[in-house]
Amino acid sequence: MLAIPAQELTGELPDPPEFAAQSEPIFVSVGDIQEFKALPEYHEPDWVTSKYVDAGTLPPVAERLPKEPLVYKTANMPDGIGVYGDTMRHVIGGRPEGWNYIGGQAQGWGGIDIGLSECLTRTGPLFMIKAEELEPLPNLAKGWEWSEDGKQLTMHLVEGAKWSDGDAFDTEDVMFYWDDHIMDPNVSPLNGGTPETFGQGTTLEAIDAYTIKWTFQEAFPTQYLYAMAYGTFCPGPSHILKPEHPKYSDNTYEQYKNAFPPEYMNIPVMGAWVPVEYRPDDIIVMRRNPYYWKVDENGNQLPYLNEMHYRLSTWTDRDVQAVAGSGDFSNLEQAESYVEALRRSAEDSAPARLQFGARTIGYALQMNLSGNGWGEPDDRAQSVRDLNRNLDFRKAVSIALDRQRLGESLVRGPFTAIYPGGLYAGTTYYDKASTVYYPFNLEAANGLLDGLGLADTDANGVRNFPDGGADVEITLLANSDYGTDTNLAEGVMAQLEPLGLRVIANFQSGTARDDMAAAGQFDWQVARQGAELVSVVQGTAALAPTGPRIHTFHRANADGELDLLPFEEELVALVNKFVTTSDNAERADIMKQYQRIFTENVYSVGLTQYPGALIINKRFANIPAGSPIMMFNWAEDNIIRERVFVPEDRQGSYELHPETLPGEPGGAGPV
Ligand code: GLA
Repeated sequence: MLAIPAQELTGELPDPPEFAAQSEPIFVSVGDIQEFKALPEYHEPDWVTSKYVDAGTLPPVAERLPKEPLVYKTANMPDGIGVYGDTMRHVIGGRPEGWNYIGGQAQGWGGIDIGLSECLTRTGPLFMIKAEELEPLPNLAKGWEWSEDGKQLTMHLVEGAKWSDGDAFDTEDVMFYWDDHIMDPNVSPLNGGTPETFGQGTTLEAIDAYTIKWTFQEAFPTQYLYAMAYGTFCPGPSHILKPEHPKYSDNTYEQYKNAFPPEYMNIPVMGAWVPVEYRPDDIIVMRRNPYYWKVDENGNQLPYLNEMHYRLSTWTDRDVQAVAGSGDFSNLEQAESYVEALRRSAEDSAPARLQFGARTIGYALQMNLSGNGWGEPDDRAQSVRDLNRNLDFRKAVSIALDRQRLGESLVRGPFTAIYPGGLYAGTTYYDKASTVYYPFNLEAANGLLDGLGLADTDANGVRNFPDGGADVEITLLANSDYGTDTNLAEGVMAQLEPLGLRVIANFQSGTARDDMAAAGQFDWQVARQGAELVSVVQGTAALAPTGPRIHTFHRANADGELDLLPFEEELVALVNKFVTTSDNAERADIMKQYQRIFTENVYSVGLTQYPGALIINKRFANIPAGSPIMMFNWAEDNIIRERVFVPEDRQGSYELHPETLPGEPGGAGPV
């Protein structure tokens, strides 16, 4: 058997088809969007004053707001100061596990947790910040200073901000999150915050009720300000959660995680709306948070919208309903729906606007690279892991896939592009010259597997493990909540048949899939990737296994040991270097090296990349131009929902609980 020299497998990467984003952001400075300051007077919906404040069940709005609330500037609001009323009707495909976000429970995605959680900083809206001023927005941390040597960062929390039940938000909440979640290895907060997210050896302490101090090992690691945004530094209500945490109770960690099931109503949040009603497989209803700590320049307490709905349906139905007008919002991200959605939205009578952005949706085939026990593989699975860790094997799989056809099987037209893996074309740090592309070449793929001694010894069409071993059978985990995920997975399975690999579907619904993925119980998975490959600065630590529990497809075994491949060590070193420099030229250079090593080694097998479109009902105002569905975060954060409103003459009567507010935590519902 002749070894095939690596360079012969590489080829010219075709440029993605032209696809112009349909609207461009208006680029501004952070200070143009918001500031923290006291205003001479504050307002709220009339019914809140008359039904609650006048009745003595709620303090006056000025007393409910912080000393200096976050003020959104009018000049940056696309349609200006808004009016109160109406509802945003979301449709989602996920299901809530419960409300303990920091304890690791999912709320069903689709913007639920993004809306409930407020974090120290905020990054969703950064798509509209001038590149040279890019830095996370202050949020629960309203300001910060670096020490002279750059190793300490002092942050000031919004003073007098309150949870939606009126309890004070302060450093107790922040430290409870840090000490008993991030630093407690028994807890895995949703979205995966771990100590390494904030740098090895980093410490955090409370100075007083509204001041915290970070101490880092390096000087000026401004990068961590991104980790303090959604989803890795959004504290939970310590006054509610703490009594259930194992450190302060007899609960097990599992009991703690599950202590706030979806039926638990009125969970205190810092977000603009509070869950007040839950009907399984039907709907979650949220009402305005009377203690929300953000206002407009006229002193109107936000949000403008009184209610939020999350219809518990399917992700495809989210597209269908948004286009039809029975839902209000969708991230059009399942390429199979594009043609129909575009056609309908182009009609004058269309109820919704549809706006495409850049190619920031991407899928990869990820192989489990742990060879030392993560997920407790049996013998078969362990043999697959050994193959996964072999470069020729990964290359063979990669070049046995016809990416052009995979993309076209989702949707025809200029949408999908060949994705060789790593950073997406069209994002800031992408560099084509540093991208190694191994084009479709089934013959060479078969040659590579022959070279590995994987021959079909029993002539059943499936290669066998060496030395009379069993058929090479590989399970492929995918999220059955999304047609795109399973369609791509099926495409992969079919295309690998002529390579002599038997790939078996393991399609699981969202929550089960997430659990299996996080536990390492998979050989391979097809996954839609996160913000780290789009923005690089968001979720940076997850670009490589920089910690034992941080990476998607390579984590430590039960003893906390990682068995990194040599090229992974290089990736880790690059990511760590990226984090500690803020020199833009150096950063760009580091990411070129990252991209080369990633793609050369087929770290993951890129499948397809394509643009997403934001669909939003035309009655909503203050939707920023050029809002991407995914960049630093999802569009549910990017569009700044608390600032969105519906002009009076366009308001619908969708509120299910008009003129009510959230009731007692754990109580029956709205009052
Ligand atoms: C899901 C959806 C995305 C987005 C996120 C928000 O993943 O598929 O479009 O709504 O939830 O968390």
